[in-house]
Amino acid sequence: MEPLNEPPAAPRVPGLKKVRRAEPEKRPVSGNHSDYDYTNFFSGSGDDPFDLLGPFDDWFTEARPAGYYLFGQAMQTRPQTRVDIIESKENTRLEDLINFASYNYLGLSYHPEVIQASVEATRKYGCGSAGSPILSGTLDLHEELADKIATFKKLESALLFPTGYSANLGVIAGIMRAGDLVVADQFAHASIVDAIILSKAKTRFFRHNDAHDLERKLARFSGKKLVVVEGVYSMDGDVANLGDIVEVSKRHNARVMIDEAHSAFLYGENGRGVAEHFGVEDQVDIHLGTFSKSLGAMGGYVAGSKKLINYLRGFARPRVFSCALAPGVVAGLIRALEIAQSDRSLRERMWRNVDFAQAKLRGADIDVGDSTSQVIPVMIRDDVRIFRLAEELIHEGVYVNPVRYPAVGKHRSRFRISISAAHSEQELAEGCEIITRVLKRHGLGLCHKRATYSASR
Ligand SMILES: Cc1ncc(COP(=O)(O)O)c(C=O)c1O
Repeated sequence: MEPLNEPPAAPRVPGLKKVRRAEPEKRPVSGNHSDYDYTNFFSGSGDDPFDLLGPFDDWFTEARPAGYYLFGQAMQTRPQTRVDIIESKENTRLEDLINFASYNYLGLSYHPEVIQASVEATRKYGCGSAGSPILSGTLDLHEELADKIATFKKLESALLFPTGYSANLGVIAGIMRAGDLVVADQFAHASIVDAIILSKAKTRFFRHNDAHDLERKLARFSGKKLVVVEGVYSMDGDVANLGDIVEVSKRHNARVMIDEAHSAFLYGENGRGVAEHFGVEDQVDIHLGTFSKSLGAMGGYVAGSKKLINYLRGFARPRVFSCALAPGVVAGLIRALEIAQSDRSLRERMWRNVDFAQAKLRGADIDVGDSTSQVIPVMIRDDVRIFRLAEELIHEGVYVNPVRYPAVGKHRSRFRISISAAHSEQELAEGCEIITRVLKRHGLGLCHKRATYSASR
């Protein structure tokens, strides 16, 4: 098997101070700017749309060094298991951090054959597709990838989108109209929520994974209904209760859509996802996913019947009015898909790593919620102090991102760990030990009752 971790290829930037495992006590503590967050600047009085910019800027000038700078810090390496990042508060480079932040579940983003395919396609076709897919932007490569996805999913047809986000927008707003009903799980990703808003359909959210609550929401409505769930929930790492959800939905004549962003290529005997895992693929009407997680690149897809895909070709506006994926990305994805399908060992390795990390964290009484997957939340539940913890973690050797409102509910902040097939056991052990040490120092993120874990694949 190819090595999963290539040596870092990014050049060193001269003039930056190298800092590693600095003393955490020296970091500043946040002040009263922490009484505010983005919510306070969403709307305000006044006639000028720019009225909020000044107050926001004043607040953010203080809030940024206290923790917001932790979002979107530049990485100087591939998203490998060890990365260098620029700590943007003091403009220092932090080297060789254990990377628990990237989605690259199978390590495919930098697989040598994926890179080679991408480079060759860029040489042949150039950097961009230079057009919408419905006009001049479709290359033979796009058709090949869409066909390969449909074949992989054992479905009639598939359609590509520039991102997973736009796939949700295009599909939900493509088929649902004002007066229809979309019922989504309460933990549905922002792209699903935004898609429903765009569609102007009536919206209901059912309690997370609760098929009884879904039934209550569906029973009250007569008309066109769509139920939307995720395979693995992106912020909690638990799996859809898909068997019950499908059964209830069908009984109420609702169509079912699953977003397998975090589960396709990982779950099921053949890696087709959670729908395969539960044996309900033929009862799910719309299969959606992204190329940005397990396949390590970017883009989104929807797969289903020929009629569904033909309709969406005309009505999925985020695809119609946006440039097609770049050729280098598409060629890399074709190769990544082939590898994900043919090399089961990658998936198996990821699941071994998931078991190992889950056991390590749970064994140390870390609160990982109900996760049974490679997405492991470390529940902090403190929207202010999570920044301090995040600072200590990066300075002590682990790269994780704080997740706060609005990505999750208020006071449900957490770190989201992503486990990859590429991690070595030693990296997982070391990373989990650092997390445990930092959390115990603060008495945060610990659970008193140890939940049992059984892997969900
Ligand atoms: C469930 C889910 N759907 C869609 C998306 C959007 O995917 P992309 O990043 O490819 O736009 C995400 C991204 O995190 C996600 O978690």
